[in-house]
Amino acid sequence: MSEKVDPAVAGRIEELRRALRHHNYRYYVLDDPEVSDIEYDHMMRELIALETDWPQLASVDSPSARVGAPPLEKFETVPHALPMLSLDNGFSDEHILKFDERVRKNLDIQSPVNYTVEPKVDGVAVELIYENSRLTVASTRGDGFHGERITDNVRTIKAVPLVLHRPPGTDSIPELLEVRGEIYLGRKGFKTLNDERLEGGLPPFANPRNAAAGSLRQLDSSITAERPLEIFFYGIGRLTGTGIDSHWQVLLLLKALGLRVNPLTRPGLSVEQVLGFCRELESKRHELPYDIDGAVVKVDRISYQRRLGATSRSPRWAMAYKFAAVQSTTVVEAIEVQVGRTGALTPVAHLRPVQIGGVTVSRATLHNEDEIRKKGILIGDTVLVQRAGDVIPEVVKVILSQRSGGEKVFSMPTRCPACNATVVRPQKENSDDLEAAHRCVNTTCPAQIKEHIKHFASKGAFDIEGLGDRLVDQMVQRGLLHSYADIFDLQAAAIEKLERMGPKSAANLIAAIEKSKRVDFHRFIFALGIRHVGEHAARILAGSFSHLDDLMRASQQELEKIDGIGPIVAGSIRSFFDQSGNRQTVARLIDLGIRPRCRLAATPGRLTGKVFVLTGALKTMTRRRAGERITAAGGKVSSSVSPKTNYLVAGESPGSKLQRALRLGVEVIDEKQLEELLPSEP
Ligand code: IVH
Repeated sequence: MSEKVDPAVAGRIEELRRALRHHNYRYYVLDDPEVSDIEYDHMMRELIALETDWPQLASVDSPSARVGAPPLEKFETVPHALPMLSLDNGFSDEHILKFDERVRKNLDIQSPVNYTVEPKVDGVAVELIYENSRLTVASTRGDGFHGERITDNVRTIKAVPLVLHRPPGTDSIPELLEVRGEIYLGRKGFKTLNDERLEGGLPPFANPRNAAAGSLRQLDSSITAERPLEIFFYGIGRLTGTGIDSHWQVLLLLKALGLRVNPLTRPGLSVEQVLGFCRELESKRHELPYDIDGAVVKVDRISYQRRLGATSRSPRWAMAYKFAAVQSTTVVEAIEVQVGRTGALTPVAHLRPVQIGGVTVSRATLHNEDEIRKKGILIGDTVLVQRAGDVIPEVVKVILSQRSGGEKVFSMPTRCPACNATVVRPQKENSDDLEAAHRCVNTTCPAQIKEHIKHFASKGAFDIEGLGDRLVDQMVQRGLLHSYADIFDLQAAAIEKLERMGPKSAANLIAAIEKSKRVDFHRFIFALGIRHVGEHAARILAGSFSHLDDLMRASQQELEKIDGIGPIVAGSIRSFFDQSGNRQTVARLIDLGIRPRCRLAATPGRLTGKVFVLTGALKTMTRRRAGERITAAGGKVSSSVSPKTNYLVAGESPGSKLQRALRLGVEVIDEKQLEELLPSEP
């Protein structure tokens, strides 16, 4: 039997939804919010709390409904009523002038044509259908005629209105609106996503476009909900009930309906002004918070667009002016092999220096031997190189027509370039396949030692100020350091003699080393450089063991029992501590006065077994610090909300995790309540 709905509650829910939609519009479309994030969150929390208490009033169109729907088996195919075409590309002023000539010839007019120019954002094209103001279908471009239905995924994107905005003073909203746009990931979102993937041991996305496409291709929309996807709308399919005859007017209508339009769009341009504006956009491209690969020039008048029509591939009324690529050709002068911390050998191409998008590029990673074979790269080859976002430059392909015959095949060395030890290509664990990487087997290899020491001194580990990469290289070369334990034996007199060092910098370094000795347990574990144990796993381990000895003695089975530690990580920890050399190094660190602070030991198990998720900005401490304190008290910190979560700690602007928590009935606490659960700071 369902409870009778209190009309006051129903009214309040409606009021909150209307207010939140309005504030979304102010924030995403006008970029001019009227309320602070705190006020917005407050309303959102009240709405979610009411909807949780009154499930019969829940609605898929509520502004709170951004957490994703149950996973799909596969994507359905949906037809596009009007085909989603592609664009003709142009690469020079001349191409644009020719386009303008063609347009006027086809229209049989001499007078200048009015153009609207938009940035061409590099993402994924989508079509959204609004019926009676409600978002009903979202689909990918597919082959232009049929796309995949990705409605659940698109509904998680915060800038997509689930219900169209009603412009004040109008009561006519189109009954049917098919609107098209580009879903993309901004540079910042792309970097955060890739950092998270690297930490989780997943391969990073090559560029923001692949990341956006990958995020939309998820059958489980709660994964999409975690990705910071954005959207700009740039056109329409079918639209009923307006008499508009200008593309710019269409864009203004879209904006008024709450659909985000790129604010850099410029209307009313003659073809000469189009040339100037394209140049202006190109010069600005690197300052924008997202990638653009060109500008789209569109004939503004819609009756002209109709008259011009389209070829089977692309409309005759628009063209893409593509910017000089962030690609360029150059020569692979040599292939050098670098040895990483784990002994993995990475081939790196030394390139004849070339300017790509305002930066000189002289090296590109080739990943591993298979990658070189797959791309068929020879030493001396002319290759196409590209730079995407913050990613290391990479070789796209070989320009075969440039081969002279004098190129040389690269092969992986059979001996380590740093220490001359044997190189092997190990088998993958539990599989007959080979690992992608070749490895140097010598654990005392100087190249590995250098990388180990750099890792040990890095920010997330011992964070030793002043002990940078160059200094480490020098110290290893001069024989001052043979392992990271040697750092704590360094003498000022020896440091002073190094290049670019003097008595003052030596004294500072000694002080920084001394200070680092009081290190948190999880940083200590991370610093050891155990394969597969990143910052996240280190925190879990630090929260599960009260003494270093217990961690060192834990069996594979014991380790696997820990939530968040799988068999590969467990096996890697076990084999690390099974090597006597590693045990000796750890013992030496303790002898040298390193005292990892095991908080767990001091406050046994206050939060043992409790799983926390942190979201939003905290005021009195960073999220990292909050996480450290929770694990120190025996709790666990997880990155996503699941039925196993005990507490969601919600700071300012909490986002989709809060909604998910409330839906799953997870207890939501604020910073003050967290403080009460934690043992007081020492
Ligand atoms: S108009 C019929 N406008 O570029 C016209 N496209 O090569 C169809 N794109 O698939 C597209 N920004 O993914 C248009 N402002 C913009 C655009 C844009 C990005 C993408 C879109 C399309 C591709 C065409």
